[in-house]
Amino acid sequence: MLSDMKTILDDCEKHGYAIGSFNVSTIDHVLAVIDAANAEKSPALIQPIAGVTCYADEIRWWQMARECIEKYSEVPIGLHLDHGLTYDDCKRACDSGFTSVMIDASRSVVDGTANSFEKNVELTLKTVEYAHAQGVSVEGEIGTIGGGGEGATARSVNDIEYTDPAQAKLFVDCTGVDALAIGAGTSHGTVKFPKGHQPSLAIDLIREIHSLIPQVHLVLHGSSSIGESDVDIINKYNGNVNPSSGIPDEQKVQAIAAGVRKINQGTDSHLAFTAGVREHLALSPADVDAYLYLKPGIDRMIDITRMRMRVFGSAGRA
Ligand code: 13P
Repeated sequence: MLSDMKTILDDCEKHGYAIGSFNVSTIDHVLAVIDAANAEKSPALIQPIAGVTCYADEIRWWQMARECIEKYSEVPIGLHLDHGLTYDDCKRACDSGFTSVMIDASRSVVDGTANSFEKNVELTLKTVEYAHAQGVSVEGEIGTIGGGGEGATARSVNDIEYTDPAQAKLFVDCTGVDALAIGAGTSHGTVKFPKGHQPSLAIDLIREIHSLIPQVHLVLHGSSSIGESDVDIINKYNGNVNPSSGIPDEQKVQAIAAGVRKINQGTDSHLAFTAGVREHLALSPADVDAYLYLKPGIDRMIDITRMRMRVFGSAGRA
């Protein structure tokens, strides 16, 4: 059943667990998350990124995603816009059936440099005012998360700016956001940390921010673990993904204990899906019907999504 982010995250806070917010860019991804959530009896969020889909008509894509959730989910699932870069992105999403939106105003859309605190507040507040009037909940961001969309842009791990707790509280007071993405040592994309480097999330910082704003749900972006077996399969079959370290499950569990309630996952799902498709096409090169080679991708994505639901503690909560 379609649900909204705030209701889902309020339950997480009450019972001390987190949900996965899973990036999707095709309808197969949407169905994979729904199948995983139904199987695990887990609430979840399904999150397209603004401007990221293989379909020509973005509004139609968003509406199809919503219809799938309404029709096929037996558990609470929200449709969340990930990384709305502008007020217009978020307004379009509110008008197209999203149950929550993220306004990512921590950086300039022009050159990617950090926006001032005041600019971030101004854009976020404008979005909150519009979204709340439509019954749509809002995630903002304070501090910045490293990495690029798929590890391929200029933004690097060195860009991580840890969230200042006092500033986070002020930001929430000024904007009224329902959820807040914080910089706590994570990084977007397939290339996160050098291979062998042990990433270390700022658990004490998360705990401190949570104690200051317990009513606002903390979000970790850039939290994929970068499964070695998926990267190995992709590279074995002519892929070229740089070896990299991600965020280990144990650290995500510690972050949840410290107060994180929403954990974004894109890269791990993409790696799993791509590994399944590449392996199938390499081993069965005469296959040309999409159902043959998409199925192993979909199955791998369902598996990794189900595993995360168990790690986050959301399995069995719906
Ligand atoms: P990953 O790239 O680590 O999966 O993070 C995705 C994300 O945070 C999208 O908002």
